[in-house]
Amino acid sequence: MTQTLPLFNEFVLDAPSTEGIKYIGSKLKLIPQILQLIQKVDAKTILDGFSGTTRVSQALAKLGYSVVCNDIAPWSAVFGTCYLLNTKPKEVYQPLIDHLNAVPPVDGWFTEHYGGHANGGCAIQADGLKKPWQLHNTRKLDAIRQELETLKLDTIDKAVALTSLILALDRVDSSLAHFSAYLKAWAPRAYKKLVLEVPNIFTSAGKHQVFQSDIFELAPRVSVDLAYFDPPYGSNNEKMPASRVRYAAYYHLWKSVVLFDNPPLFGKAKRRKDTSDVIAASPFEEFRRNPNGRFIAVEAIEKLIRATQARWILLSYSSGGRATAEELNEVMQRNGELLAVVEIGYKRNVMAGMKWTHKWVSVAEQPNREFLFLLEKEETVLS
Ligand SMILES: C[S@@+](CC[C@H](N)C(=O)[O-])C[C@H]1O[C@@H](n2cnc3c(N)ncnc32)[C@H](O)[C@@H]1O
Repeated sequence: MTQTLPLFNEFVLDAPSTEGIKYIGSKLKLIPQILQLIQKVDAKTILDGFSGTTRVSQALAKLGYSVVCNDIAPWSAVFGTCYLLNTKPKEVYQPLIDHLNAVPPVDGWFTEHYGGHANGGCAIQADGLKKPWQLHNTRKLDAIRQELETLKLDTIDKAVALTSLILALDRVDSSLAHFSAYLKAWAPRAYKKLVLEVPNIFTSAGKHQVFQSDIFELAPRVSVDLAYFDPPYGSNNEKMPASRVRYAAYYHLWKSVVLFDNPPLFGKAKRRKDTSDVIAASPFEEFRRNPNGRFIAVEAIEKLIRATQARWILLSYSSGGRATAEELNEVMQRNGELLAVVEIGYKRNVMAGMKWTHKWVSVAEQPNREFLFLLEKEETVLS
């Protein structure tokens, strides 16, 4: 039996402000809906299992929840450490940020591979490659990144400085919100000077933890009231060529900024070799069926639901066709009780009153629909 939850006919929640980079699949616009659903149940501790920009984690922490923030990507762990683990007031960091802004520019690894001349507007360089930043900014990046090593900061201070650097780089890049290809003509923002600012850090009452783990490794180890899962779905419309969002490949440059390890590179976008599709693939990004005829992504979701130590699971889902929706619906019915289904952006936000657990499947026939599912796990599955 499903239960009707009054959702959006109540007050509209004022979501706390958050900060983050441009990120494919960021849930910035869905934070109010996510928070409203979470407030329908009695949760105090929350796992944000695929935290990405950490915007959802930031909003939850600001509302007083204790947050376990996790993502496999190193940049997300840096953001999580900056926003969730810092306990100092914002002003304390101003001298450090001023110092970094004043470091004299140098030519280094980032300039060699990712810096380009303004060229009268054309980002294609003498080597025939397009570049994501102009030289004046990669030279600052090289200098600041080296200085961060020299300063030998503690983990939290370094995370605050790195977050500040990444946010500043994100404001002056010449990309389409990711780094798997760069623009032919310089974006107007690429001409602006790289200037670091203290991130909008805050202190909060909850006890937070930050992990950089594969979710399958972490989920059985942490016990929380509610887990929010926002996996990296591929476009799995069977009739269309696959367009997978591969986070490791899209954001390779943030990994290089965080690690500062001058890795071997390949291809026109000069991606890190360790972000090649063979090495860095995720089962959630896989749109195909396995030899048993099951969708690999949906099977991964079932495995994750079963491994999760939480009474409630909130799942973000972007539909990719009827077949996957049907399979996902079966997975959810099999593993608990579906308390609410919210379809985003189609004024069908509240499906209460309809036989909506089945109804959403027919809506999901069209690709690129976005849903939120609130699931209560079966006791037997939970134990
Ligand atoms: C849709 S994005 C999450 C966006 C995030 N909710 C936000 O608002 O910024 C999916 C995230 O899953 C992460 N990811 C992919 N495979 C993972 C895995 N096996 N374990 C943990 N995180 C993973 C990616 O690094 C990416 O940040």
